[in-house]
Amino acid sequence: MCGIVGYVGSKKAQPILIKGLFNLEYRGYDSAGLSTIENDDIEIIKTKGRVNSLKEKSENKNLNGTIGIAHTRWATHGKPSDVNSHPHLDNSNTFSVVHNGIIENYTELKEMLNSKGYNFSSQTDTEVIPNLIHYYYSKGNDFIHAVSLASKDLKGSYALSILCKNEPDKIIATRKDSPLVIGEGQSEFFISSDTPAYLNETKNFYFLDDNDIAVITKNNIDFYNNNLDKISKNIKTIDWSQDSVQKNGYEDFMLKEIYEQPNSIRETISSTLTQDKVEIEGLKLSKEYLKTINRIYIVACGTAMHAGLAVKKLFENLCKIQTEVDLASEFRYRDPLIDEKTLCLYISQSGETADTIAALKLAKQKNSKTIAISNVIGSSITREADYSIYTHAGPEIAVASTKAYTAQVTLLSILAIYFAEVLEIENPQIKSLKQDILELPSKVTEVLKVNDEVKELSKELYDKKDIFFIGRGIDYPASLEGSLKLKEISYIHSDAYASGELKHGPIALIENNTPLISIITDKKLVEKSISNVQEVITRGATSIIITNQKLVENNFHKIIHIPETNNYISPVLSVIPLQLLAYHVSKLKGLDVDKPRNLAKSVTVE
Ligand code: F6R
Repeated sequence: MCGIVGYVGSKKAQPILIKGLFNLEYRGYDSAGLSTIENDDIEIIKTKGRVNSLKEKSENKNLNGTIGIAHTRWATHGKPSDVNSHPHLDNSNTFSVVHNGIIENYTELKEMLNSKGYNFSSQTDTEVIPNLIHYYYSKGNDFIHAVSLASKDLKGSYALSILCKNEPDKIIATRKDSPLVIGEGQSEFFISSDTPAYLNETKNFYFLDDNDIAVITKNNIDFYNNNLDKISKNIKTIDWSQDSVQKNGYEDFMLKEIYEQPNSIRETISSTLTQDKVEIEGLKLSKEYLKTINRIYIVACGTAMHAGLAVKKLFENLCKIQTEVDLASEFRYRDPLIDEKTLCLYISQSGETADTIAALKLAKQKNSKTIAISNVIGSSITREADYSIYTHAGPEIAVASTKAYTAQVTLLSILAIYFAEVLEIENPQIKSLKQDILELPSKVTEVLKVNDEVKELSKELYDKKDIFFIGRGIDYPASLEGSLKLKEISYIHSDAYASGELKHGPIALIENNTPLISIITDKKLVEKSISNVQEVITRGATSIIITNQKLVENNFHKIIHIPETNNYISPVLSVIPLQLLAYHVSKLKGLDVDKPRNLAKSVTVE
C-alpha cells in the first residue's frame, strides 16, 4: 500500500527512482511523485495518475540530482490529486517526505502546528510530517534529531524517506509498522518499500526494524535506534532473480504467475519434503510442546485466509488438534481464547499485511507461540513471529494472488504432516499424501492445459452481471478463492456458497442463465454435490463443473476436467481453471488485470 523509493549515489537519480516506482506500482497506482536535490534546492514533481505520467512529466525537467526520493500512492487520506500526491514539503521547503502508512493522530498534530503558524495545502495525513520535522529543526536540532523527535510524536504506521535541503548529501529513512529496505550497491544505496524495486541493482539489502533510523550517504550508511544510539545491522542477500520481476514475454504478470505454479510449488516442496522426510528450515518443535497444544488458529486475510480454510481439515484429521481459521481483521477484536496451549499460524504472502501482523502481536501478548508463513524473507511478519517458514513462490507482482495461494496450501499441508510426525501419530494416509504432494508440480502442468477451454468459456461469461460458485467440504474454500479472483479483477459480482447452504437462502438469486460454477473433487460427496447442482439447473442456472470425477449426468453446460489427487490437496489443482477464468474474463473486458481498481498488493493499513 503505497510504494516508496530513494536513491543516493553518483548517477542521475530521476531514472532510477522512476524504475523503482514502476517495479513497486503493484503497491498503489493512483498518483506518483518525486523529489531530487538540485543546486542545494529541493525539486519536486508530482501528479495524479500512474508512474508513466510522472515519468513523462519529470523527463521534461531534465533533473540532474544524484539524490532523491519518490512515491506511488494508494490513497487513504485525501482523494487522488496532484496536491495530495507525495512527496510533501514543509512550509519553508526545507524537508521533502515520502510516506507509506497512516498517521492516526494527524488531526491533533495539525492543530498543534496550526497554532505555531504552519499552513497545510493537502488533505493528507502525511503533510504534518515535514512540518513537524521543521518545527523541531527550527528549535536548533539537526536533521537526524529533528526526525527522531518528530517520529516520537507520530501515532500509527509509517515508512519514511526524507530529504533536507541543508544537508543535501543524505537521505534519512525510518519506519514503524510499514516496511522499508535499503539495498547496497557500489558507492550507492537504494531505498524501497520492498526488494523487487531494485533487484536489478543489488541483491544485498538491510531490513529496517520498527523505530530504526538510517542515515544514508553515497559512501556510508549508519543505523540508530529510537534514542539515537548507533546500532549495527546485518545485510541479507536475496536470491530472487531479476527475471522473476519481469513479464518475460507474457502479456501480464498474472498470467506469468499462473504459469509459474509448477515451479513455485516444486521449489516450495523441495525445501521441505523428500520421499520420506519432512524438514522445515527454521522450525523445531518438540513432541512435548506439541502435545500441550489443544487449539490451532490459522489467521490471515483474503486469499491467504482461503489457503488456511483449505488446510483446516487436514490439521484436524492428521494432527487431531482443533483448528480454527480466522480473518485477521476480525480475530483481534473478538477476544479470542488464546493461551500458552494455543498455537497460532499467520499466513501472509507479502509478510506486511497490517491486520495479520496486529493479530500476531495479540497472540504473542497472550503467550501463544506464533509461526509466520510468508513468501518474503525478512518481511515484517517474519521478524515478529517466533518461527518463520517460507513458500518459495518467488516475487508475486500481480495484485491478484495466484502462485502464492497454491504454494501456501502446499506448504501448510507439509506443515500438518510435520506436526503429525513430531507427535508420532500413526496414520497410513501420511505416506500416500506425501507422494501426492510430490506429484503436484506435474499435475499442475497437466491442469494448465485447460487454458484454451477456459478461454472459450470466458467468452460466454464476460458480460454476465452475477456469477456464483459452490463447493462442499474441501471444495468450498476453493470456490471462495475462485469467486474472489473473479470479482477482484473482472468487477463482476460474485459470491461463493457451501453447496448444501444454497437452499437455505442464496438459491433465491438464481435466474434463467445465471452462471453457477461448481467444484466437485471429493469422491464421497459427489452425489450430494450433484443434487445441489440439479436444484439450480431446475431453476434455470447455467451449470459449469470443475471436477476430477467421472460424472454420469449429462445436463451440465460445461465440464472442465482436472487430474485426481489426494482430496486434502485438491484446492491446489481446482483453483487453477478458476484463476485462468478470472484472467480471461478480465482481458475480454479490457481491464488492467495486474492492477485492478481500488486495490493494492500489500495492505499495510488496518
Ligand atoms: C487477493 C489477494 C488478497 C491478499 C490479502 C493478504 O488476490 O491477493 O486478498 O491475499 O490482501 O495479503 P498477504 O498474503 O500479503 O498478507
